[in-house]
Amino acid sequence: MEYQLIDGKATATAIKQEIAEEVEAIVAAGGKQPHLAAVLVGHDGGSETYVKNKVIACEQCGFKSTLIRFEADVTEEELLACVDKLNKDEDVDGFIVQLPLPKHIDEQKIIMAVDYRKDVDGFHPINVGRMAIGLPCFISATPLGILTLLQHYHIETSGKKCVILGRSNIVGKPMAQLMMQKQYGDSTVTVCHSRSKDLKKECQEADIIIAAIGRPEFVTADMVKPGAVVIDVGTTRVEDKTRKSGFRLCGDVKFDEVAPLCSFITPVPGGVGPMTICSLMKNTLAAGKKEYYK
Ligand code: GUN
Repeated sequence: MEYQLIDGKATATAIKQEIAEEVEAIVAAGGKQPHLAAVLVGHDGGSETYVKNKVIACEQCGFKSTLIRFEADVTEEELLACVDKLNKDEDVDGFIVQLPLPKHIDEQKIIMAVDYRKDVDGFHPINVGRMAIGLPCFISATPLGILTLLQHYHIETSGKKCVILGRSNIVGKPMAQLMMQKQYGDSTVTVCHSRSKDLKKECQEADIIIAAIGRPEFVTADMVKPGAVVIDVGTTRVEDKTRKSGFRLCGDVKFDEVAPLCSFITPVPGGVGPMTICSLMKNTLAAGKKEYYK
């Protein structure tokens, strides 16, 4: 069977174009240009790349963006003061603090300090809780990007068996919540993780597998049912001396052997990754329009 490749890059480009057109119309009508601020602490290579790409996406969407940088030795107090300032800045519609943060800073404390009405990452407990009970809210970027891809490719999820690999706060847990809800995935959801006994068997029975465990090439052909939909959230950097950067991104799925079994599959890179940033843009537009919160 011929599988269909889910092109996250093209989908994200199309959605950003739609956002840009809407922003142009808003500004032409005398409305406010959406403004996203990003806080970057230290010089982690992955975080640097993600934040740079977020700034580029803002330009593509016609948003204003502000990048605030701190060295890795920034104190928690200084970071909290920055969050407070952004909360109060009337021009800033939404902002993010790029994770992970250095170990001496309590991430949860920073997340809790963000005004939930500006929490375009959807990490604040108010947004997480509202999402869990199906109320309007900012949905975190990776799960929202995956939902958008499933919709864009008209992939049927209602009543299907969906296995999620991983239970992180930013992907696995919210993804499970969304996939089970009637208004989103409407699927039967199983969450597997490093301690799951029958992980392989659960996967073999899945119509949809969403792999977000951060273990390169973890999902192999013997785990996948013919005709399954496979979404790969993995982005592990593995050394590759043939690349200018010295590394390449490796997904959680052994693509070459799994793809021929699938009805749909996302590549790495070019699958979920570009959609994540696109979702952040969607949330920023919603923040600018005060769509969820006044
Ligand atoms: N680190 C990994 N993913 C994310 C994300 O979606 N938002 C932020 N702020 N940090 C991250």
